Formats: sequence, C-alpha cells, structure tokens
Amino acid sequence: MLTAIAPAKVNLNLHVLGKRADGYHALESVVVFTEFGDEIAIEAAGELSLDLSGEFAAASGDVSDNLVLRAAQKLKGHCAVSQGARIQLRKQIPVGAGLGGGSSDAACVLKLLRALWGVAVSDATLASIASDLGSDVPMCLHARPLIARGRGEEISLLKPPFPDYFMVLVYPHVALTTKDIFAAHRAGNTAAMNTLSDDDFPSLPALSGMKNHLQSSAISLCPEVAEVLLALQTAVQQPELVRMSGSGSCCFALFTDEDRALALHASLQQKYPHWWTRVTRMGTQ
Ligand code: C5P
Repeated sequence: MLTAIAPAKVNLNLHVLGKRADGYHALESVVVFTEFGDEIAIEAAGELSLDLSGEFAAASGDVSDNLVLRAAQKLKGHCAVSQGARIQLRKQIPVGAGLGGGSSDAACVLKLLRALWGVAVSDATLASIASDLGSDVPMCLHARPLIARGRGEEISLLKPPFPDYFMVLVYPHVALTTKDIFAAHRAGNTAAMNTLSDDDFPSLPALSGMKNHLQSSAISLCPEVAEVLLALQTAVQQPELVRMSGSGSCCFALFTDEDRALALHASLQQKYPHWWTRVTRMGTQ
C-alpha cells in the first residue's frame, strides 16, 4: 500500500490580472502548502475504486464525480494500463474553501498511481494531464512554495531557504464555488506583481502589500468571510498576515511563531465554535 498526505493549498495573495479570451482569468499568486492535508492510501486492484471517509466526505459530492477518480481514469487511459487501484481518501480539508483540496487529492493520486503502476510518465506529461483536470492541479503536483501565473498552471518554483510560518485556517462552514466567485469579480487594480522576484520567497512587507482580489466578491456571496477576516485582524495575537485563500471561504492568519498561532486557535475555538479551525505549519519540502 502507498500512502501520502495531499496538503492544503494556501494563496498568500491572489492578483486577478484580467479576463482572457478563453473565459479564464489571468492570475498571479504566491502559493504555499500546509503540513495538514487529506490522507490518501492506494493499493493494487483489478478495478478503479474510491472510498471516501473523514469530516468532509459527505460534502465532497458523488464519489463517481470525484476529481480523484477522473484523474485516475485519465492516467489509466493515457498509459493504457490494465490494472486498477483501490483508493482510500480521508477528506480533512474543507470543501469549497479555496484550499485546493480536490486538486491536491487529484495531483497526489496521479503521482501515487504512476508509482503503483510503474508507468514511465514524465513530469511534463503528468503536468499536462493535471492541467486538463483543473487550473490548480499542476501547482499541487509540486506542493511547495511557488508563484502561479496564467490560469494557475504556469509555475515558477521559489528557491529555498523558506521562512518557518504557522497558519491558523478558519472556514465558516460555507462552501463557495470558484466559478461563481470569478463570475462575481469586478475588475479593479490589475497590476502585476512586477516587483516580485521569481526566485526568492517574498518578504512579509511585500506580502502585506499584496491582496486577494477575489476577497470582495467572496464577501458579497458569503458575508461570513468578512466576519472571519475581522476576527483574525483584531486578534490580540496580532498575526503577521490575514487574508482569504483562493476563491474562499477559508481565511488564514499567518504567524512567525507557533505559540501565538496556538493561542489564537484556542481563543477562536472558544468564541466561534461553529467555525472549522486548524493550526498548521507551512510545508517547505
Ligand atoms: O480550472 P477550474 O476548472 O478549476 O476552474 C473552475 C472555474 O473557475 C472555471 O470554469 C472559471 O469559471 C473559473 N476560473 C477562472 N480563472 C482561472 C481559474 C478558474 O475564471 N484562472
């Protein structure tokens, strides 16, 4: 049996540069991944199958529509393998949260199946299969700090050393659909982050000066996002950065030390027991 964690994706910023002729939006985003994620196990089997468990299994929709199964079928078709696989997925990442859970699961399964089936599929081919599955799937194949551009599939890996960051993730239990949030987006500032080096992890002052351009459309469809942001921005622990991830509704508070992150998490659990919260560390591998 092969096992892996499919990490949650966090957009430290998300700049929407404009709408493209193909209907997608051109983006620029500094993306990191967390140590926390969904748990995946796969083993050899005659047929392809998927078992879902975990807190967000029910919210993941029909198993037959799951992106993980679509990823597995695509790779199987591409390699013309006769084997299947039994895939077990423990859904711990909130669904419709902007944390790329489904994309990360699909990316993780592509890599695990390539190993399980022993097929010679290049990283470039895997990236192309990933890109067909969704804009966020290629970045999840890397699952380490990067800048994403294009519709999300053009990736520049950032170079270590990376800072040691702790994050409190807060999801108000409202699932948002990426398509709806982009549809509600009204173009504003579309300046690219020209000041950003493609190599180095951006400094905290640089990150603070950036935005998530989808935040206001997410708030218009889900006012709870504003409540979460306010609670994080006014916390006595004074996070280094507070922002929404992706198309929401999950927001994060970023800290340079674990103690303040744990303290904020404990206080949120007391004050807002109806919100899903989690403390995690930024992955640097
Ligand atoms: O690529 P994916 O299928 O995950 O995207 C879901 C939807 O989000 C797209 O159909 C599109 O409406 C919107 N989207 C966008 N621009 C992007 C990524 C997604 O408009 N860069």
